[in-house]
Amino acid sequence: MARRLHVAIIMDGNGRWAGSRGWPRLEGHRRGAATLRSVAEAAPGLGVGELTVYAFSSDNWKRPCEEVAGLMRLFAEYLESETRRCVENGIRLRVEGRRDRLEGALVETIERCERRTADGGRMTLRLAVDYSSRHAIAEAASRGRTPDAVPDVDLMIRTAGEQRLSDFLLWESAYAEFWFTKKTWPEFSVKDLELAISEFRLRVRKFGALPAPHETRTLGLDPRRDPLAAIAADA
Ligand code: FPP
Repeated sequence: MARRLHVAIIMDGNGRWAGSRGWPRLEGHRRGAATLRSVAEAAPGLGVGELTVYAFSSDNWKRPCEEVAGLMRLFAEYLESETRRCVENGIRLRVEGRRDRLEGALVETIERCERRTADGGRMTLRLAVDYSSRHAIAEAASRGRTPDAVPDVDLMIRTAGEQRLSDFLLWESAYAEFWFTKKTWPEFSVKDLELAISEFRLRVRKFGALPAPHETRTLGLDPRRDPLAAIAADA
């Protein structure tokens, strides 16, 4: 059976999606939460064992208080409403990031949700909240360790046309494959996730080594014309 994938998603474009309709930014975040719900429920069936999503970066505190407060409310509502669905779907929910700057009530909700979904074996859904990869790396290094809370990412998806990591899983994405779409997060669908995963499965991952000969064959690379395939076929 194929190894289960770790997919990470930078859910970008909620504000633009709402703005283009003349709606408040929070409406975009609300639609974004609905997209996350459907993507998270479909992901285990597509071979995803870990799904990590960027919900709130440590730099997002710089946004207007109203938007920050609305997002925090949305996270609490999401965790409350998703706990039962996650238990039913065998999904373990975890929240990654700093907790010392979150309100006490939200931290309690997070802890309750993590406890109640702890046995979910089909997939881990990880929400990154008040998350900064640089902070996580510096923190681990100060203890003489490397960051180990999140496994290596196989596939990194970013929506809404931007092509950068924005301080998300810098360490864990050392060998991630990247997939970008112009669609905003509220427009993203399970079909898009399927497409991203099917394209990912066609990529040759070498991790600094050479592709195995069977990979050059299954990908239809011609050793006579592709120097890399020729080297691999000889190996
Ligand atoms: C980036 O879009 C998105 C965010 C900063 C928040 C992500 C939050 C959600 C998808 C809400 C649902 C999440 C949970 C866990 C309930 P943006 O607002 O920066 O978009 P813009 O670049 O178009 O302004």
